[in-house]
Amino acid sequence: MSELSPADLAKDASARAAVALVQDGMRLGLGTGSTAVFMVERLAERVRAEGLRLRLAATSRATADHAGRLGLKVEELDEIGWLDLTIDGADEIDPDLNLIKGGGGALLREKITAAASDRMVVIADPGKVVETLGAFHLPVEVIGFGLETTRIHIQRLLDAQGLSHRPMLLRQRDDKVFCTDEGHVILDLSLENIHDPARLAAGLAAIPGVVEHGLFLGMAELALIGSPDGSVIELRREVSE
Ligand code: 5RP
Repeated sequence: MSELSPADLAKDASARAAVALVQDGMRLGLGTGSTAVFMVERLAERVRAEGLRLRLAATSRATADHAGRLGLKVEELDEIGWLDLTIDGADEIDPDLNLIKGGGGALLREKITAAASDRMVVIADPGKVVETLGAFHLPVEVIGFGLETTRIHIQRLLDAQGLSHRPMLLRQRDDKVFCTDEGHVILDLSLENIHDPARLAAGLAAIPGVVEHGLFLGMAELALIGSPDGSVIELRREVSE
């Protein structure tokens, strides 16, 4: 009998489907989060069973540590240079496969890694699929210096774009300010509905002090949505010629 919860069964189903796409010789980016944990475990199983020769880069220290414990060799992204495929989770997925990511605080390395990959495949449970992005908080990674002025810039941007928002929260973990793998902090933006993600992404990227934001637009080409019964739905992004 399975000890996994329905949500974990769904995550595992999506992870298995993604790992089935991996071929011998590939250079892979390993995502971060609870769904990515399943993916790394399934990948380690295939490597052990089939002797796959892979080159692996991790999107966070947590993932690198987890992969290492499972006997997978993880290299720095720069040692590999370019990746064939990155498999990562998401906090929200819209019909165009635009994403909110960064719930686990790894958005910067995740975006750099996905952008250095020929393909990005998203793994998730059905709860992540939305019509419009924005119910989940939007993480924005910022430099500690001038944090309050960066916050004011962001607030003005949201007001100028007519986005209703609640006070943005400086992310905490274990009663301390959360610090990313790159030594920055995260402001979580509570927006109800991001009606123009591209405009918001451009505005955030233009603010000094903002290092990166959790909008991943036009990056994922396939989302594998698992269900507790083990089935998987494929969502594909229409790519215009
Ligand atoms: C981490 C992320 C994760 O991929 C995202 O938060 C989804 O995590 P989970 O699979 O645990 O729901 O972006 O920064």
